Amino acid sequence: MIKQPLPRIDQDETLQKLLLPFCRLKKGEIWEDALGIHKVGCLDAVNNKDINKLFERKKAVLAIHDPPYNFVAFKERELKEFINWCKTWVKNSYNILKPNSSLYIWLGADQKFHFQPLPQFIQMMSETEFNSRSFITMRNQRGYGTQKNWMSVRQELLYYIKGNPKFYVEAEYTDIPKVLKGYYKTVKGEKTDNPGRSKSKFIRAGNVWVDVQQIFYRMEENVNGCYAQKPIKSIIRIIEASSKQGELITDIFSHSGATLISAELKNRKCYTIDIDPVFCEITIRRLERLRKQGKTGWQNSNPFADEIKKSRKIKSYLKQYYNLIYD
Ligand SMILES: C[S@@+](CC[C@H](N)C(=O)[O-])C[C@H]1O[C@@H](n2cnc3c(N)ncnc32)[C@H](O)[C@@H]1O
Repeated sequence: MIKQPLPRIDQDETLQKLLLPFCRLKKGEIWEDALGIHKVGCLDAVNNKDINKLFERKKAVLAIHDPPYNFVAFKERELKEFINWCKTWVKNSYNILKPNSSLYIWLGADQKFHFQPLPQFIQMMSETEFNSRSFITMRNQRGYGTQKNWMSVRQELLYYIKGNPKFYVEAEYTDIPKVLKGYYKTVKGEKTDNPGRSKSKFIRAGNVWVDVQQIFYRMEENVNGCYAQKPIKSIIRIIEASSKQGELITDIFSHSGATLISAELKNRKCYTIDIDPVFCEITIRRLERLRKQGKTGWQNSNPFADEIKKSRKIKSYLKQYYNLIYD
């Protein structure tokens, strides 16, 4: 049972308006971390002035982006328009990345509509300066069952590079013990184990990740009110494979702040933005909570629980529309 639940904030304009007074950023503003490490901007990913304002000529070594790709979020926007929109933020990303850097993009594929927008997005990327490097699939355990189709459990993650960035392969090992000793090789006509191939006792993640748990309400890192939270474990894997400690990374669709939190945990700097002041506030509060209480999320509570408890108006709204009781 969630004690202090919060419904999806992005789908409820009234709730969003009720939470706005508790948000410290207005559109166009940037919050700078008191320790001078991270930045959170209430900015637009397709506005290059916004992006330049955030970066002030600094460049990142890694970008991890998770655009809103479901068409409900886009108010039924045409696919072509969506791809053009993506083209613009991809270009903005290119400009804030170092000459040798990595770009990861979480993307969905609608199996009822020819897997869009995945093929169109990949086609668009082929016309940019980025080169493709890997097409990762993460097992998304929250998949919905159906009697008429394979259960949908995949989450796509595209990996592109600019120039020739470093890839830190050690980071790519899972905590899954290796059952087989190694690959077979033939020595003087005899098939033998080849344990020298890798000294690790654990298997590599490869481009199919089956060891990352999708977020759900019983996990500490859960952020109620967010709808598209990516697991910290997956982002840490990306960060450790494609950046070093102290380096600057970025995410221009922050939402729950998962990239910034992962950066903080792994001693990277993170400049992140969200167009929505509520998600900027959640990102900032999540960092503050991590620093003060060592917690990565809210599990059974939510980022605005204290304010909601004090507000009769929000409490009665949540009760009336969602039958949620706050005491
Ligand atoms: C799919 S969510 C990202 C989830 C995130 N990776 C996480 O783990 O929490 C997309 C986010 O992009 C934000 N967004 C939508 N359009 C944007 C834009 N033009 N510029 C910046 N952020 C935008 C939305 O408000 C939403 O919070």
